[in-house]
Amino acid sequence: SETVVRRERFAGGPAREFLSSMAFDDRLFEADLAVDRAHVVMLAEQGIVDAADAGAILDALDDVAEEGFDALPEGEDVHEAIETAVIERVGPDGGRMHTARSRNDEVAACLRYEYRDTLLEAIETTVAAREALCEVAEAERETVMPGYTHLQPAQPTTVAHWALSYEAALARDTERLLDAFDRTNRSPLGSAAFAGTPFDVDRERTAELLGFESVLDNSMDAVSSRDFLVEGSAAFAGLATTLSGLAEDLVVFANRGLVELDDDYASTSSIMPQKKNPDTLELVRSTAGDAFGGLHGLLTTMKGLPRAYNRDLQNASPHAWRVADAVAEATDVAAGAVSTADWPAEELAAAAGEGFSTATGVADLLAMHGLPFRTAHEIVAAAAERGADYDALDAACEEVVGEGIDSLADRDAVEAVLDPVASVASRDSMGGPAPGATAETLASALEGCAA
Ligand code: ARG
Repeated sequence: SETVVRRERFAGGPAREFLSSMAFDDRLFEADLAVDRAHVVMLAEQGIVDAADAGAILDALDDVAEEGFDALPEGEDVHEAIETAVIERVGPDGGRMHTARSRNDEVAACLRYEYRDTLLEAIETTVAAREALCEVAEAERETVMPGYTHLQPAQPTTVAHWALSYEAALARDTERLLDAFDRTNRSPLGSAAFAGTPFDVDRERTAELLGFESVLDNSMDAVSSRDFLVEGSAAFAGLATTLSGLAEDLVVFANRGLVELDDDYASTSSIMPQKKNPDTLELVRSTAGDAFGGLHGLLTTMKGLPRAYNRDLQNASPHAWRVADAVAEATDVAAGAVSTADWPAEELAAAAGEGFSTATGVADLLAMHGLPFRTAHEIVAAAAERGADYDALDAACEEVVGEGIDSLADRDAVEAVLDPVASVASRDSMGGPAPGATAETLASALEGCAA
């Protein structure tokens, strides 16, 4: 009959493989079954398909679910293959499943359904990484370490302060993923090809059955839009950027003997027997390449597409899957590396005082005793050139303001701020590294993770 003629004419020929999305549609298998079920239930409730046919279709869908993606018959994509499998089981009445819909609203619904899960899993993984950082902060609240700017020793800080800096960034990355989730969680189903349908469909009902928060109103927009994938991928790209910095820090710290990575997160050389390399973290760092590449691929695919559906859209989503999978995996690995790493307190403390890292604290002290900060800065800068100890400070003071440092602050106070531990303890401003301040940051970080 006509169906057979149509299938023969559009069998695909030499471009069949090229046309097909079966190679990556397994990801939509569960989603398509859910979308099919919701649609059929709604069709029955609306009296568009009778209860017996709907029941037979739903049974067939259970059967198809049971047998799995790999057992599907041939098809251009998972949507067509599942429909064929249903018709094989039910007979021609199985074809009623596709009443009042198109693959265009079907695939858009499947993508949103599946992407919701992808986002939720990534959000859970990101929260777990934040919890791992909080545990490090808890354990290393008073572990003094060097803090860097321009990769040079700048001011002493603590491991906890460092860890919580990444927790804070990951908390915002989590918010962005949640925002993307909100705009993903809207139903395009019932839009049909783009132009709506004469059947009395209940779009809100299918949205409800599929757990969508709301319905995308305009049916042309609903099938054409993939901005939810753009937004989610951009959030993943931001997350990958945070992770790349975290990984880079750990690579540098490991290089300087300031952190000991667990063997599970390091690798060795096939020729140089003495090597322990931070390969895993280098791969985490490289994930930004997957994320930005995928986001760019997605945006480029979408750019300039006319309304409404165009087959380019089929190639948009694999970019989003690649981004999400790569970044979620890297988040998980980074969390593992963080929670198994060892922080050698003695090496960290020794390094924390290197490079006159307490200089700012001395300038702060002199300024607290009434000197303009700029003058204090000048004195300490001059001392830095002379050796960075008490005598150097004294001589520099004489040079810049014409009197010894004891005229400004007593020796004990000066010696104290030269000590990295005291230096850290003194910086107790909100969000600072002093253990008391860090405890408050940690408490709100933990609250955020639990929310
Ligand atoms: N597999 C296709 C996709 O992912 C299904 C839509 C086909 N629609 C069409 N109008 N040719 O976009």
